[in-house]
Amino acid sequence: MTFTQQDARPELESAPVSEWWRTAVIYQIYPRSFADASGDGLGDLPGVTAHLDDLKELGVDAIWLSPFQRSPQKDAGYDVADYRDVDPIFGTLADFDAMLAGAHERGIRVIVDLVPNHSSDQHVWFQEALKSAPGSPERARYIFRDGAGENGELPPNNWESVFGGGMWKRVTEADGTPGQWYLHIFDESQPDFDWTNPEVRAEFRDILRFWLDRGVDGFRVDVAHGLIKAAGLPDFTPDPEGGSMGGDAAGVPYWGQPGVHEVWREWHEVLAEYDGDRALCAEAWLPTVAQTALWVRPDEMHQAFNFHYLETKWDAEALRAVITESLHEYAAVGAPSTWVLSNHDVVRHASRLALTAENPQGAGIGPKSPGKPDPVTGLQRARAATSLMLALPGSSYLYQGEELGLPEVIDLPDDARQDPTWFRTEGERYGRDGCRVPIPWTADAPAYGFNDTGAAWLPQPAEWAELARDVQREDPASTLSLYRSLLAERRAHGLGAGSLEWLDGYGDDVVAFRNGAVTVIANLGDTAVELPDGDVVVASGPWEGASLPTDTTVWIAAA
Ligand code: NOJ
Repeated sequence: MTFTQQDARPELESAPVSEWWRTAVIYQIYPRSFADASGDGLGDLPGVTAHLDDLKELGVDAIWLSPFQRSPQKDAGYDVADYRDVDPIFGTLADFDAMLAGAHERGIRVIVDLVPNHSSDQHVWFQEALKSAPGSPERARYIFRDGAGENGELPPNNWESVFGGGMWKRVTEADGTPGQWYLHIFDESQPDFDWTNPEVRAEFRDILRFWLDRGVDGFRVDVAHGLIKAAGLPDFTPDPEGGSMGGDAAGVPYWGQPGVHEVWREWHEVLAEYDGDRALCAEAWLPTVAQTALWVRPDEMHQAFNFHYLETKWDAEALRAVITESLHEYAAVGAPSTWVLSNHDVVRHASRLALTAENPQGAGIGPKSPGKPDPVTGLQRARAATSLMLALPGSSYLYQGEELGLPEVIDLPDDARQDPTWFRTEGERYGRDGCRVPIPWTADAPAYGFNDTGAAWLPQPAEWAELARDVQREDPASTLSLYRSLLAERRAHGLGAGSLEWLDGYGDDVVAFRNGAVTVIANLGDTAVELPDGDVVVASGPWEGASLPTDTTVWIAAA
């Protein structure tokens, strides 16, 4: 069976397939933890600009920046108070423009995060809503409802916030009496917009244009599956074992409602007015690959994160199945599949792939978590997994620090934790701080070169000196060297635009396929696998003779 990027519905056969985002490797920058030029312990935009050459050297095609817009930082910037400005902790609009120009000069495209599901409670619209009467146009931009119970003292329904606790907060009206309730899928400082309101829609089309006019190449759209809520806001009780963002759960009245597609069609038209193949990428956690593919139909978004791939266990059969399904379902709508293993909301894959207990997305791991990973196994699997991923046709996302093999930081002190999940669940869930620790650049420098003052908003582990970029640059066996080779060979062999043909005969625990001239063999089993003839152009770990050890992936070019 062979799948190609060009497989498409008949009516799409003439559609262009050359847009950059179809094959790009996109590197996620989490600005507060990337590089800190000001020295205040929080990364910033001048820090990004200062390291663009490192990203060029790594070989990525584009960067995606998590939010840097003006925000009280209650959810690390995913609580935006002004969508058209840069938060002073990250710099200024001029710093943004300089960063964008520097990236473009180096041939690196730039995607910015857009958070349309909710704003910060400090947003001028929400402040106006609080001061205005129930039923006013100011309240109609958000989801305000009267409470249940005799005196409205109970929340309007039973929904639970993704971060723990209830999804409604009661306000005090201007006259001092207890009043209506507003909906917040996330923290109470993140009120949800009402996307049935045309004023909200117009405002976001304008925000898109603000950033497109500045020259951004696209948007990563936050909580794209949450914008529309089911009519009547019916009660719903989530599975306590499920991932916090939705995941497998079907029929959730606040996730994946059909009305969102109208929004994406409007946005698609806005982007189409601009040159340069600007792109939208959906953060949408949906029950099936097939449902996710509907978000990237030709007149909607361009990409959607493949969280089904990210959530697949380190298991050959499961990987073959999700890859086959993804290539089929996305090809059916004429879109590329994306691939991703880590981001700022999940346990880093150098730890996650060696967990021995269930760990739903968003729960995080900490000192008291069961099934803690063995770091050596975790890193070996992570290197093998990335080597597999970067050989797949389509576009791949990388998360800052994974090119250094960074593990999740498990033993953060309780008093350092900052994720609202930690507070809202009273420590029952650790949350996502462990994947957000500032990354190490230089072994022998304050904060490992994150800045020159030594300040860091989350403490960096002592073991990270040996993982610093300057140490790894000099070591051909380092994870950084592996990523550089993978990206160079991927480009040289055109793998992103290639096709996948499964190869049989290597056994159930092996993922083996051909993409153009490159044969990829990933051994997930306990016994060594005999390699075919050809030149090994990249290997995720040591191998001897023609024998491929466990948890190792190789790329072999035809001899
Ligand atoms: C998804 C983002 O990736 C996450 O970090 C954030 O907390 C929520 N959306 C709320 O915006």
